[in-house]
Amino acid sequence: MKYSLILFSIFLLPFLIVEDTKPSVDKHTPVAEVLKKLGDKSITHQVNSGLKGVSVENGKQLFFEGFSKSANGKKSKKQSKHFVCTSCHNTVKEDPNLSISDPQARLEYAADKNIPFLQGTTMYGAVNRTSFYNGDYYKKYGELVNSARNNIREAIQLCAVECAQGRRLKHWETESILAYLWTLELTMDDLAISNSEYETLTAAVDNGANQEKAVDLLTGKYLQGSPATFIAPPEDRKMGAANITGNPANGKLIYDLSCKHCHEDERYSFYKLDDTKLSFDHLNKHFGKYSRYSTYQVSRWGTSPTAGKKAYMPQYTEERMSVQQLEDLRAYIKQKANK
Ligand code: HEC
Ligand code: HEC
Repeated sequence: MKYSLILFSIFLLPFLIVEDTKPSVDKHTPVAEVLKKLGDKSITHQVNSGLKGVSVENGKQLFFEGFSKSANGKKSKKQSKHFVCTSCHNTVKEDPNLSISDPQARLEYAADKNIPFLQGTTMYGAVNRTSFYNGDYYKKYGELVNSARNNIREAIQLCAVECAQGRRLKHWETESILAYLWTLELTMDDLAISNSEYETLTAAVDNGANQEKAVDLLTGKYLQGSPATFIAPPEDRKMGAANITGNPANGKLIYDLSCKHCHEDERYSFYKLDDTKLSFDHLNKHFGKYSRYSTYQVSRWGTSPTAGKKAYMPQYTEERMSVQQLEDLRAYIKQKANK
């Protein structure tokens, strides 16, 4: 009797304890799964994987390369001649704190991780969002935004045709991209959740206690949609934004992580930019002018695709590049041009 008790303590008790304390919510749990367990039904875009040809690999290849193999094994026609999805979107986390959209925090984070700083929002966590093309995007795309606002499939399609200036995606292609995006969903680890908040959430999942409050707690930790505010170039382009002094070191980060992403080696544009004096001189000369080469002009209004030239430059919203950051870029370009 005594022996069996000792054996029990040594061998079985630890297992029982481990079993007992394994939490139902930990840092590896997908956020969408926790929400579902809390009775939340806001995410409605699960993948229809029954459709022929649908796979994560196909979606990933479409996203990075613009084509993939269809269900019958044939290579699909390239989605766009001008862009791939990664021209304008990251696929990794790009904001240190997912509950705010702060371009300076994002720029520093991008520099630290060596990822691009772009006009489109990252697809990391896109499936956790419930609204798309938010804020001022209706001014650019009009009625097209209505169907995409609360429907990620329509958002993908709108972007393929309007942003990427390519053909419409087939049903299995959209579904494959969606399947790929689900591999980029948020897990609890991505959110700033304290130990006591973990306890609250676990209790709500396990005992059904205060589930609505738990949903609010969780959804308060990340943005359900990416905000977008269109802003104009400064009133006086020659002078630049009033009362702001540009910081060239910060401007260099923008030039390297953003402008060069598309313009170096003419990757997505025929307008070539690099670290030569020629590039800086040209940008500097036009920056504050009313010209097609003005960085104020192209950053805030973008350029428009035309019939003969469909590659265009997407604008930066205030959330994707601040007024201060644009002045920082100007200061950097000026410094390099005057060397
Ligand atoms: C030329 C740039 C560009 C290309 C190429 C592009 N996008 Fe976008 N995309 C944008 C911009 C700008 C937005 C506006 C909203 C945002 O992301 O902040 C957007 C929005 C989106 C959204 C909605 C995101 C949100 O949270 O509002 C999805 C989904 C999306 N794109 C998917 C794609 C896919 C899939 C492709 C490739 C087939 C693609 N995009 C190609 C620039 C681009
Ligand atoms: C997502 C890709 C992308 C990014 C990022 C980007 N551009 Fe562009 N840009 C383009 C495309 C595409 C055009 C269209 C003109 C072309 O292809 O020749 C363009 C056009 C321009 C033009 C006008 C050229 C002309 O021939 O009229 C300037 C100037 C310019 N970009 C500067 C910049 C600067 C400065 C930055 C960084 C703040 C930047 N671009 C970031 C893609 C981009």
